[in-house]
Amino acid sequence: MPKAANDKKPLSASRTAIAIMAAGKGTRLKSKYPKVLHEAGGKPLLAHVIAAAAQIVPASDIHVIIGHEAELVRKAMADSGVNFVLQQEQRGTGHALMVAQQALAGYDTVIVLSGDAPQITPETIAKLRDFHLAKKAAMTLLTAVLERPTGYGRILRKSAKSDDVRAIVEEKAASPAQKIIREINAGFYAFSVPKLFRNIQKLSTNNAHGEFYLTDMAAIFGKAKERVVAIEANHPHEILGSNTRAELMEIDQHMRLGKCRQLMADGVTIFFPHTCVIDNDVEVAADTVIEPYVQILGKSRIGADCRIRSYSVIRNSEIADGVVVRNGCVIDDSKVEPRAILGPYSHLRPGSEIGEGAHVGNFVETKKVKLGKGSKANHLTYLGDAEVGAGVNIGAGTITCNYDGAKKHTTVIEDGVFVGSDSTLVAPVKIGKGAYVAAASCVTYDVPEDALALGRARQVTKEGWAKAKRQALCKS
Ligand code: UD1
Ligand code: CA
Repeated sequence: MPKAANDKKPLSASRTAIAIMAAGKGTRLKSKYPKVLHEAGGKPLLAHVIAAAAQIVPASDIHVIIGHEAELVRKAMADSGVNFVLQQEQRGTGHALMVAQQALAGYDTVIVLSGDAPQITPETIAKLRDFHLAKKAAMTLLTAVLERPTGYGRILRKSAKSDDVRAIVEEKAASPAQKIIREINAGFYAFSVPKLFRNIQKLSTNNAHGEFYLTDMAAIFGKAKERVVAIEANHPHEILGSNTRAELMEIDQHMRLGKCRQLMADGVTIFFPHTCVIDNDVEVAADTVIEPYVQILGKSRIGADCRIRSYSVIRNSEIADGVVVRNGCVIDDSKVEPRAILGPYSHLRPGSEIGEGAHVGNFVETKKVKLGKGSKANHLTYLGDAEVGAGVNIGAGTITCNYDGAKKHTTVIEDGVFVGSDSTLVAPVKIGKGAYVAAASCVTYDVPEDALALGRARQVTKEGWAKAKRQALCKS
């Protein structure tokens, strides 16, 4: 894992662990899923916090405290390489740390993060740690000054200008005068590990929730004549927690807009960016234009000079330079070569590879398909498990019948083939180079190069038949 540049010096002086509290139920979300697995910016909240922590210490020094739906959380984060500590019963943030005592033995310093506050940055974590070590404090808390501090614990400093903190008072216990305080407890701390565990058993459950509050450690250390200091976060949004769905959406919006701003700074035009959903790992090159109501998700990469029109959803796909994605396309796990034109309303399912300058039009569905350079499938078509060469024209309503009820089979259409409208190509089948398939054919045998395949009933024309029918109907 890469580390923040400024973390080297204090690490050599002390062993630092990061504990992430992630055991809570998230009652206020009214969800059957654990809070830390709810998503913002396209990823679970906890994944953001782990990613930031992993910039500061190796994953093996990250201890995630899990409890509510612990197995779900453990599974979702299994790839991260972090350790898990089980807090079987969730008896408060103080209790979460009590449970982690064994896992933290042997460390000098622990930084405590909240699994539900995903916007924390490695820079701020490093700043908290450095300040803590410089002040030789028992406890250091990160604070922020908020316009609307309601719901957060308030900071009681010894005096306005002092680094030293007297206590943290939770919202429910705060007096009207204390509620006016706008400096709040972010829920991120640094502790001296030996001092924390020498004093943590002094916590009590004598409060509104009947829980062990980690925040009470400030007053406990005060009484024990240990130093408690506070440092403000660089940006207040970094500390925002997501206790409610509304808070979750504020965080999501903030992350998404941040991503759009970064892309715009890199030369991408985004109209009405507040309507677009672009995941963090997405890359877009300069001079591409993204219209309103577009979603670009997962690990998608979009080249330069593309136009992504409204209502398109692109996931884990690679779109090369100069591609036009017209309105309403859905593109999943696919690859599109330069200057191809898609849509409106094309559906590229996984494994679609659309060649340079190719066209895929209205209501065309592709799956596991290679469409060659300059080939066209413009209307109402299904191409599945097919290899289509260059310069091929697929007529409207063409269907590759790739499934026989048990297995999938491949259709091969070589360069320069013309498939007439409303044809069904029953796989496995191969249409040789330059061949023609007559409209409305059902092709069940291979077609050789340059041949014409005609697989339909011959037309019968009965002169005067319709007129005679109408007359008969009038008489009856
Ligand atoms: C906490 C702080 C509050 C601070 C706010 C910042 C306490 C008592 N209060 O309140 O001062 O302003 O964070 O966001 O700490 N958790 C566990 N085990 C438990 C309980 C909670 O792991 O037994 C985890 C939760 O999953 C969550 C984190 O700890 O990730 C914080 O808990 P939460 O209940 O959200 O605390 P707040 O009420 O937000
Ligand atoms: Ca919270």
